[in-house]
Amino acid sequence: MKKEFRDMLKERGRSEMPAVLLVAAECAPLAKTGGLADVVGTLPKDLKKLGIDARVIVPYHRVIKEKYGNNVEHMFHFFAKLGWRCEYAGIEKLELDGVIIYLVDNERYFGDRIYLGEQAEGEQYAFFQRAVLDAIPNLDFTPDVVHCNDWHTAMIPMLGKTQYAGGIQERLRYLLTIHNIAYQGKFGFDYVQDLLEVEDKYNTPEFMELNGCADFLKAGCVFADRINTVSPSYANEIKMPYYAEGLEGILNARSAQLTGIINGIDKKVYNPHTDPVLPARYDRGHLKGKAQCKRALQEQMGLELREDVPLVAMVTRMTEQKGFDLVMHVLDDLMAGEEVQFVLLGTGDARFENFMREAENRWKGRLCAYIGYNEAVSHLVYAGSDFFLMPSRFEPCGLSQMIAMRYGSLPIVRETGGLRDTVQPYNRFNGEGNGFSFANFDAWEMRATIHNALQCYRNPEIMQGLIGRAMQADFGFENSAMEYARTYIWML
Ligand code: ADP
Ligand code: GLC
Repeated sequence: MKKEFRDMLKERGRSEMPAVLLVAAECAPLAKTGGLADVVGTLPKDLKKLGIDARVIVPYHRVIKEKYGNNVEHMFHFFAKLGWRCEYAGIEKLELDGVIIYLVDNERYFGDRIYLGEQAEGEQYAFFQRAVLDAIPNLDFTPDVVHCNDWHTAMIPMLGKTQYAGGIQERLRYLLTIHNIAYQGKFGFDYVQDLLEVEDKYNTPEFMELNGCADFLKAGCVFADRINTVSPSYANEIKMPYYAEGLEGILNARSAQLTGIINGIDKKVYNPHTDPVLPARYDRGHLKGKAQCKRALQEQMGLELREDVPLVAMVTRMTEQKGFDLVMHVLDDLMAGEEVQFVLLGTGDARFENFMREAENRWKGRLCAYIGYNEAVSHLVYAGSDFFLMPSRFEPCGLSQMIAMRYGSLPIVRETGGLRDTVQPYNRFNGEGNGFSFANFDAWEMRATIHNALQCYRNPEIMQGLIGRAMQADFGFENSAMEYARTYIWML
């Protein structure tokens, strides 16, 4: 054990590291729609290296059942009370890469869709949270800290502290990590009361009420022992109304318990030197393989096979958060005004998907919109592109820009949240930097920044320096795991 931790623990009269149960809606590689899954999948592995018994509990989504059904062990089952209903809750156990993952089984709630959407999602995750809390005393380990992630798990601290008098749940410590404040889980109070038996007195702005709704994430911000978000910049931003979506009051009030811990990426999964899905492998000193990946990407996407034309890519959920309005505004100008190719891999809002499909027709051979979710293709896009565009309106952390950098694709980002904390813009006076960035959420500012990046592409010396520094940046999870470890100990 590290001396720092030993000393911290000694002050608290303990000798062992805390045991932690991470609770989330998704966990890679079992079930994933975005970066949350990556974090929940990777963090426990690095916590274990620090001597923390970190385990995970997630819903037993059908995708998990189909892929891992033969490897799980049934532990126990019970009936969770959801208002007047009693719902089956099976607890299954799976070990993956040395990490124990508990799965909450219920075929009604956890079928084809990880998120049911709208009101149904409230019931889906009310059930999950109730089942997790009821299961805790019967698991084959006793956590000290329950680490909740986003609104789908944010009622747990409140329910644990107010509805389990005398139980272990009442004494546990709760950490809430906010991965995205734009999703809060807002429902009518009656609906939530019906599902989770929340007392009337909590339907006030002091507790979980926000703009006339019962707000799951707000309840978490009020009741969690500590709160963190996934980058230092975003931790500051969410104290301001522009970013906080109504939660600035509670977050300012609790700013002493609010920190920012930057995410990392799984350096084993995202490694151009060993990545098995790439047609050729490469590293910082030997970039020949990257050129082959670019060619393979152009082939697969139906683009002209031209090594000399810079290729700009996006891999993303297609939502407003990711800055698609900006892309829509200047894409045609970009394609008309520059010698450039453009690849998008993404899925999301219909209006963005349709725009990109139409753009592909207009710019056949130079632009490809791959609408869908595909892990293997994403690796090829990161490896085969020269630039990676991420003009987010807000970005709590962002993993894609870190993955892109690891694959030598230079990020072009807006300076917000984790993008600001991970990308150092190219400075043509001293030659420093590992990407490109712009400050304002403005389409023409983005367009000008892309132009600057494409100018640099013409200068091999500048590019080599930038690519080298991007690939060298250390985005491993070790540092984040250390920060989480400190946070857990502070909470004891
Ligand atoms: P967010 O969690 O907000 O979507 P992040 O940058 O933190 O953004 O994480 C996104 C993760 O999801 C990355 O691992 C990225 O490669 C992956 N991803 C996003 N869209 C797709 C897609 N269409 N196909 C494959 N992977 C995707
Ligand atoms: C959210 C955020 C993203 C972050 C991810 C993991 O999905 O949008 O910025 O990287 O969570 O924390």
